[in-house]
Amino acid sequence: MTQPLRVALIGCGNIALNMHLPVFLADPERYQVVAVADPTASRLRAAREMVTLDPVRAYTDPLEAIRSPDVDVVDICTPQNRRRDLLVAAAEAGKHIICEKPLASVPADAEAAVKAAEAAGVVLGVVHNYLFLPEFIAARRIIASGELGAIRTVTVNYLGVLDLPGAGGYRPLWRHDPAAAGGGVLMDMLHAVYLAEQLLGAPFVRVSGFADADLPGAWGDGVETLALARFEADQGDRTSVAMVNMAWGHGPGGVQVTGTEGRLVIHYVDDSTPPWAPLAGITVTTVEGTHSADVPVGVELPAKMSAAMTLALADIADAVRTGGRPAATGRDALHTLACTMATYTSAALGRTVSIEDAGAPGVWTAGVSALAGLELPEFSPVARGRLFARVPQAGNGR
Ligand SMILES: NC(=O)c1ccc[n+]([C@@H]2O[C@H](COP(=O)([O-])OP(=O)(O)OC[C@H]3O[C@@H](n4cnc5c(N)ncnc54)[C@H](O)[C@@H]3O)[C@@H](O)[C@H]2O)c1
Repeated sequence: MTQPLRVALIGCGNIALNMHLPVFLADPERYQVVAVADPTASRLRAAREMVTLDPVRAYTDPLEAIRSPDVDVVDICTPQNRRRDLLVAAAEAGKHIICEKPLASVPADAEAAVKAAEAAGVVLGVVHNYLFLPEFIAARRIIASGELGAIRTVTVNYLGVLDLPGAGGYRPLWRHDPAAAGGGVLMDMLHAVYLAEQLLGAPFVRVSGFADADLPGAWGDGVETLALARFEADQGDRTSVAMVNMAWGHGPGGVQVTGTEGRLVIHYVDDSTPPWAPLAGITVTTVEGTHSADVPVGVELPAKMSAAMTLALADIADAVRTGGRPAATGRDALHTLACTMATYTSAALGRTVSIEDAGAPGVWTAGVSALAGLELPEFSPVARGRLFARVPQAGNGR
């Protein structure tokens, strides 16, 4: 075995300490954490203690850790509005990058990071870890076998997402600040967007979105608590469609894929929303009848997510080692972010928009803060002040 990759962990919040660090520490042949960085003292201390690092390798300034000569890979786990400058600095320092999703809170910031990584020739792998959940691996296998024929529609219901706070000591409610998060529940769970696109098997080009804040102002914010997106993909002379339905609350969860020859349904316990609800099974129905797919059921969230994270991080680490392509590149993640942002633009405008420019050039540049400046219909939730109405500043709050 070659030397382990020397990792600098940037941002020591919940995902870093609950998921990334345990994966790194469990596989010392693959990873060696040589530096941690976080401006929040309590989080920095917790990370340093977990790794048992020399205090001099615990940095309050992330740029110092990023530029350390002994670092091969930078792992960025900050909130998404705090990433752009770190990503660009890492690329310019010639470091490979693991980055949490979403790549940024504003598409232009994500694009700047992608271009910096491409110019430097470093790997930028984004943690689209839900690709590695066993039900989606099984679903892709079934679709690839041709059993369902050509895929025409996909529906991903995540209508019962848990609204969990961020780490104490920093800003537990940053996900409810549109300038920080770049959106609400759909932005936080854009996993469903890349999953739906992969199951459909063709890139999304247009979206018709609906979004609203069911509890406007309850958290003093105005990010959406409910988002429904109908994504369109052109395949030759026909268009296929994926629906992504997302909410914080108590609605149902599950996935349906319809092809010309059959259907596939992913069921979760009590029809609840994954990953909090364990998988109940996958059924495949064609003219031959219905059968169940061979997939592990009933696995609870910690074990299931930790297994998927182990695979997702190893996939990026292997891309670094071999010069290969990770499952989700920076450019893939930029597209997923553009799909998500375009959903908000469509919801604000009340019509179908193109994903290419996130629905409007100003939104590409400044994110949801630009929506209130568009020419909006009277029924627009943004015009009504229910959604993204009080974004304090354009863009990313760097
Ligand atoms: N892939 C997944 O399944 C998954 C799950 C949870 C979170 N996430 C993503 O991980 C990111 C972090 O989420 P979280 O729940 O861990 O947040 P959190 O609030 O728990 O932690 C954020 C941490 O970032 C630190 N931070 C803020 N600005 C920083 C900067 N400039 N440099 C270094 N550190 C900085 C904070 O001090 C805090 O410790 C988000 O983008 C989120 O979407 C992904």
